[in-house]
Amino acid sequence: MAYILGLWDGHDSGAALIEDGKVVFAANEERYTKRKLEIKFPYNAISNALEFAGIKPSDVETIAFPTTELTKTISRVFPNQKEAYYKFRRRKIPKPRMERLMHYYKYATTTIGVLPLCDSVSKSVIDRQLKHIGFSKFKLYSIDHHMAHAATAAFTSGIDHALVITLDGLGDGLSGSISVLENGKLERKATIPARDSIGIFYEQVTNLVGMRELEDEGKVMAMADYSFPFPFEENKLKDFYSVDGIKIRAKYGPVKQYQMLDRLLWTIPREQFAYMAQQLLEKIESELVANAISHFGIDSVVFSGGIMSNVKANMRIREIDALKKWYIFPHMGDGGIALGAAMYADYQTRGTHSYEFENAYLGNSYNEDRILQALKEEANVSYQLDSDRFNHAAELIDNDEYVFWFNGRMEYGPRALGDRSILANAGSDTVKDKLNTYVKQREWYQPFAPSILRDDAEQLLENVKGHDRFMTMAYAIQKDKKEVMKSVVHVDLTARPQMVGEENRDYMELIKAVKNRTGFGVVLNTSFNIHGSPIVASPQDALLTMKKTKTRYMFLGEYFVENNEAAK
Ligand SMILES: [Fe+2]
Repeated sequence: MAYILGLWDGHDSGAALIEDGKVVFAANEERYTKRKLEIKFPYNAISNALEFAGIKPSDVETIAFPTTELTKTISRVFPNQKEAYYKFRRRKIPKPRMERLMHYYKYATTTIGVLPLCDSVSKSVIDRQLKHIGFSKFKLYSIDHHMAHAATAAFTSGIDHALVITLDGLGDGLSGSISVLENGKLERKATIPARDSIGIFYEQVTNLVGMRELEDEGKVMAMADYSFPFPFEENKLKDFYSVDGIKIRAKYGPVKQYQMLDRLLWTIPREQFAYMAQQLLEKIESELVANAISHFGIDSVVFSGGIMSNVKANMRIREIDALKKWYIFPHMGDGGIALGAAMYADYQTRGTHSYEFENAYLGNSYNEDRILQALKEEANVSYQLDSDRFNHAAELIDNDEYVFWFNGRMEYGPRALGDRSILANAGSDTVKDKLNTYVKQREWYQPFAPSILRDDAEQLLENVKGHDRFMTMAYAIQKDKKEVMKSVVHVDLTARPQMVGEENRDYMELIKAVKNRTGFGVVLNTSFNIHGSPIVASPQDALLTMKKTKTRYMFLGEYFVENNEAAK
């Protein structure tokens, strides 16, 4: 059997394991170290992958990792510098006196891609780290950052002839790429340099409005809808970017752009600034995609890269008339490139260009024994096997309680998709506040998202095409369904739904049970974590979160758990 291990040791590090053209396991390091968007070498993710497959390091013949640009290579050689930068960017430390300088340094080095020696230095550091944990005979491949992103979208979409578009902050000197997948070949046709990065632009805006880069971009997107809307001609950022055929062009380089944005922000209220940035992003992205469709004459497009986490911009893309089929890889950010590197190495060595990818449940699972063991170790909880757990959960949800729902394998990617979820009534008046007070502590303007039975999607949402399984796009809701989706709809009357079908039967059964009571196949679904922490991985994590948040009800595998210390 041929195993390929993919690993990523940067922002949202992680590991993925492929065996004979099948994805066996994929998870991110943050779930084990409990530090959101972890940057450390993914030792835990690797050991969990091997344990899941029941193999030893010596069974792995091929290992691949992405990104060998200069700044990444330096951070591999000097990991302490990487740690300091993590704390700076996440705003875990008071603002340093040199804050401006640190940003300028970052943006000044942005455009430097892969230099001679970077590849061999990066390889030698990673080789040493792998040998340290018992890997011995393996061939090590370094994979281009955007090829790793492209592989995830191209090889999991189920579409065999497609444009493959990647857009992100930057990686290996690029901020985007356009490739074509045809006859089993993935060929790069165009690139967008890091200098012209629309991702860096959005990151700078996020930073300048006082939020955390690479983490709070979704908040900027949500805040934008609280601005007074105005036409694009009045957008003060409108000249910052333009689209020229299949190229994106930035008016300024990243350093100058940061200064210009900072100066402009002085004159603009924060929510309007967010609106302008979001409006510009949507325009640039949809123009680029429309141009690429007509340039290559291919109307199926698959996407990956961090920018594709912007569900509102994705909605604009979906509305492009010429676009017939689309797909966004669910772990679109750098957290997904461990799998991308493994897939691209598999493609290079064995020609694999398509994987079954019905769902994203690729992480840890825990059998009944392990769940029971965790329960026995926890004081002050009552538990029992629950043969009617779907109906039981639906009853609690219908009674305006929120429930923790832990079932099956952990999701790969930023979204909880019904295996590590907190669920509640989508039409409730009060549950949103309850969740925010006890568990999530989200900003009031951030919406929650719904999970909707695929068969009911048209009834609740407008312009539904296909089966959107991964919560990657916003949809306008049907006007007359505002009441039943009260707690999951944004101020602009859009929602970011997960459509649920056969790919997660248990979850589908649960939502059907909710429908039997409420009349509508929809629940509020938010990730199973406390504010600022990663999503839970194990039953122990789940119980700890239950205790910390004083939550009363949890469904842990087949068990119904009640917390005797819960808030009344
Ligand atoms: Fe990236």
